[in-house]
Amino acid sequence: MSEFATSAGYGSGHFRHVLGRYPTGVCIVTAMGPAGRPVGMTVGSFTSVSLDPPLVAFLPAKNSRAFAAIAKAERFAVNVLADDQVAVCQRFASRESDKFRGVSWRASVLGSPLLTDVLAWIDCRLDKVIEVGDHLVVVGSVESLDVERVAPPLVFFQGGYGRFSALSTVAEADLAACLRLAELARPNLERMSANFGVQAAASALAGEQVIQLAWVGAEDAALVGLRLPFVAPFGLVFAAWETESVRDKWFGRHDATVREVLSEDLGRARDQGWTAIPDHGKLREIESSIARLATGGPFPEAIRELDTRIAAFAQEYAARSSARPRGLSVPVFDDTGRVALSLTAQRLPAMDRERLERCRAELVTAGTELTAAIRGASPAG
Ligand SMILES: Cc1cc2nc3c(=O)[nH]c(=O)nc-3n(C[C@H](O)[C@H](O)[C@H](O)COP(=O)(O)O)c2cc1C
Repeated sequence: MSEFATSAGYGSGHFRHVLGRYPTGVCIVTAMGPAGRPVGMTVGSFTSVSLDPPLVAFLPAKNSRAFAAIAKAERFAVNVLADDQVAVCQRFASRESDKFRGVSWRASVLGSPLLTDVLAWIDCRLDKVIEVGDHLVVVGSVESLDVERVAPPLVFFQGGYGRFSALSTVAEADLAACLRLAELARPNLERMSANFGVQAAASALAGEQVIQLAWVGAEDAALVGLRLPFVAPFGLVFAAWETESVRDKWFGRHDATVREVLSEDLGRARDQGWTAIPDHGKLREIESSIARLATGGPFPEAIRELDTRIAAFAQEYAARSSARPRGLSVPVFDDTGRVALSLTAQRLPAMDRERLERCRAELVTAGTELTAAIRGASPAG
């Protein structure tokens, strides 16, 4: 579109330049046009409006041909695009006469086209159309809606495409060093896994996250590279040797009772040089949340679910109900006495006391050997 001076005095380019700083998702608004021909247009101006009654809106240009057909249909579907649907987005933003050629879809309950592989769809009846400047505000009343698949949404920003990713506070530079260390630990992890039928993992603390750097014996390779929140009691082996202020943050929103129990365990971890994770029901829920993160991606919904489950686990943990250990962790110290890596035996199968003791001794030896290999030392000396 050519540049012109707006009635406010600045150029239309400036208006677009500034408003392009506001990112939007992208959807395709579709309807069944005259003579049974599906129509659609790419829209960034979609928004939810009201929950009760359920209303949504989008803003088509007054001269949109697709909208002329949508208005006649008096109903429309909103198709929310995933990050791998840029081609569909561009096709429906074009002035091509048959945008649906080669595009697969099915009809909604109201008869509007639902495109294949979208993130979500919202099936609407057209409620009202309000003229505003050179655009229209089209309000739809939502008859039904659903999520179709788990994937990152397509995001439009400064005239280009991207995808959503969760914020990370990880210092990437440290990561390379941690990865080398985890490689060094691999023979030990493999031995542990083979000898005791456990999953053996190495992880590092980076900012407010625990990064999984190696994982031996798991079916799911996607667990490597996973970033998990450093929230009590998760990551106890790191918290034990951390500074007061880091530990305080780790305690998070837990109440005094939980903190007291955790403080005792931190002291015990420092004395004995290892930590045990009890096999509570809530721990199994955490494991399934972690699997969901690994397969579905680190999206806010899955991260929130994990946070909630860690909080519930903390309560169960603090209640000190007896449970056999599900996991054991030991620290690997660097030359400043910081925990550079944690080695963990996870998903421990049922084993007798003597075998458990041997498993723990082997893990402790692995931690000590690795600490020596990198000329590290525990702060206690
Ligand atoms: C990412 C993106 C977002 C868009 N958002 C809107 C919008 O909110 N409203 C609009 O009228 N056009 C929007 N467009 C442009 C329309 O998709 C395009 O002008 C329209 O499909 C033209 O075809 P038509 O005349 O068949 O409607 C957008 C285009 C892109 C690429």
